[in-house]
Amino acid sequence: METISDATKGFVDLRRHMWMAGVEMELRRLIWQIAVTGKYISAKIHDSNRKFAGFKNIYGEEQLTLDRSSDEILQSQLKFSGFVREYASEEQDSIIHIGKGSEKYFVTADPLDGSSLVDTNLAIGTIIGIHDGSILGERKSDLVAAMYITYGPLITMVYSTGKGTHEFVLNREGEYVLSEDNITLSERGSIYGLGGLRKDFTPEHLKFVEYLESEGYKLRYSGGFVPDINQVLIKKGGIFSYPALKGNPEGKLRLIFELQPMAFIMKHAGGMATNGKEDILSIKPNSLDQRSPIYIGSRFEVKKAKEFLNKS
Ligand code: AHG
Ligand code: MN
Ligand code: MN
Repeated sequence: METISDATKGFVDLRRHMWMAGVEMELRRLIWQIAVTGKYISAKIHDSNRKFAGFKNIYGEEQLTLDRSSDEILQSQLKFSGFVREYASEEQDSIIHIGKGSEKYFVTADPLDGSSLVDTNLAIGTIIGIHDGSILGERKSDLVAAMYITYGPLITMVYSTGKGTHEFVLNREGEYVLSEDNITLSERGSIYGLGGLRKDFTPEHLKFVEYLESEGYKLRYSGGFVPDINQVLIKKGGIFSYPALKGNPEGKLRLIFELQPMAFIMKHAGGMATNGKEDILSIKPNSLDQRSPIYIGSRFEVKKAKEFLNKS
């Protein structure tokens, strides 16, 4: 794909970018429809009552009204897209057969990531995975695209279809225009974000953290997975980890809805993601609620983490 000069970036909108990148028509239209949904969810955030909905999700976590309404917005948008056969969401107990049964794509969603931060006005996000097969089918499905939307001072959208990773900003006219084309991580960065309580860190993880601190890495952790990942991507390096913890070997974050889409995006920006042993993208999920430890970011730090975690 031809490189897009800085001068023209602001005039390349999402649809044109995907067309120039040779993304096939149905996938272009699906990504576009999901990006548009981000505007509706953003509107919901603005008029949200930030209250609990009185329901719990499959993880036993209190759902905000906003979690459920964001999920409903996505479902209704995808139901009529004509391209989606199954929809699975962090807010649903099971896979929803949303299409007629012959559609090409299978979508996973964390409709609202970081919902506990809504009342603090910190950035939150939506995470989407687009698969070529059922996510819990016999065959391990592959991600053909992944995207996330960050609701911050600006609304930004990052997507990859395996041909690089690209960022768009929603402009005043309500268009997603290109802001970063082919984001490429450096070999190593200078920031780290860490979930979990220090008192629950395993000895190996603690040694890795102490190494980062001895190397002068700066702590960047908001408690929102989307902005915390976005920071590593846009700063072109560093590492985010929500590790295995004492008494919680799987950590907190959800393999299907959060980790695999972000691992796909980071991989196509030259980064990598592991659970400490294997590539996050190589793991075949066994259940919707499967969690996994995660180390994700630029190659130097992720490889270093694996060294510390597997020191015999
Ligand atoms: P969600 O709001 O979709 O449940 O996700 C919250 C997640 C993720 O955004 C973040 O990285 C993590 O929770 C923060 O966990 P702690 O509150 O334990 O730091
Ligand atoms: Mn989440
Ligand atoms: Mn969520």
